Amino acid sequence: MSQGFGGQIRRLFKSIRSLAGPGAPAPDPRIAEFFSQLDTTLPSSELRRQIHAFHDATHAAFNEGDQQFFYQGVIKRLPRLAENHNSLNWAYERLIQLPWARGDRVAAMALFDRYVDDYAPAYGELFDRSYRAAMIATQTRPITLQRRDRFQALVGLLQKVLPLQGLVAECGCYRGLSSYMICSYLRAADAGFDGGGYRIFDSFAGLSEPQPEDVVDMSMSGAKRLARMTKPGAFAASLPLVQQHLSDFPGIAYYPGWIPQAFPDEPEARYRFVHVDVDIYQPTRDCFEYFYPRLVPGGILLSDDYAWPGARRAIEEFCARTGVQLHTTACAQAYVIAG
Ligand SMILES: C[S@@+](CC[C@H](N)C(=O)[O-])C[C@H]1O[C@@H](n2cnc3c(N)ncnc32)[C@H](O)[C@@H]1O
Repeated sequence: MSQGFGGQIRRLFKSIRSLAGPGAPAPDPRIAEFFSQLDTTLPSSELRRQIHAFHDATHAAFNEGDQQFFYQGVIKRLPRLAENHNSLNWAYERLIQLPWARGDRVAAMALFDRYVDDYAPAYGELFDRSYRAAMIATQTRPITLQRRDRFQALVGLLQKVLPLQGLVAECGCYRGLSSYMICSYLRAADAGFDGGGYRIFDSFAGLSEPQPEDVVDMSMSGAKRLARMTKPGAFAASLPLVQQHLSDFPGIAYYPGWIPQAFPDEPEARYRFVHVDVDIYQPTRDCFEYFYPRLVPGGILLSDDYAWPGARRAIEEFCARTGVQLHTTACAQAYVIAG
């Protein structure tokens, strides 16, 4: 063990003991031993394998203090290399989950802030302020993985249409997180924005019945998680709850009901931006059919769900049939721009 690392381990012990309070038991000695033997110059795949092997073998026996000590150790120890980001994200996710599960949202958010300062890509003050406010308003667990990057791609596209005229809408809002984010950017562009001209379409009863197009290929990466989420009623949040979460924007117009029945019959309405996040085939298909002809020139129709098999199929079928060009982001979103 190097001198520097010995000091790091002692500091870790000290920090965990101070967090746990005086007289708290010392962390399980296997953790310090594991870190003393971990060679962080190993390729990231091997590092990940060793970290997970140790975690899987010990996790069930560890108390919260031990777990905290272990995840902090991973975070402190791993070099900030792109190859290690999956492992670092994983450790932060786990660390944040500990206070969140206890209902300590302030501590969870403080850890998320530390993650952002530590090595997350910098997206600017407006982004961080809006995302933080959105998580607090919608009581959403701060998670480190792709959601932050997806939202950055989302608001990046939204910013392109800000000079245009037209409505802005979201289909599929769940607890209101992405709507809060979109509305924050609309307010940043126009201090008087109170939600007017912003529409939300949702069943407020979760996903509708998945169709055969939505069956998940279980050989895909992440298939288990996707299959678990592809269920009628998943992501249900009631209208009053969402209205409460979005009360900073009282002018929002809500259209509760199943898509497409919830869409108003108003051929003259024009949109500059529509965010579609309904996950499955049928409502994604119906959103593209309904909104694309209602976009102003340069308007954007963005789906969050290019990684979901049914949504992907609906979008690809739409583009193949209409000849509209399909664009994608690095975060499995797909969008079209009206000509
Ligand atoms: C993944 S959640 C949306 C998450 C949200 N955009 C966010 O990022 O915070 C999917 C939403 O789609 C809605 N939904 C799914 N199928 C629907 C349908 N057929 N009609 C209306 N809403 C639907 C669900 O009620 C849920 O709110």
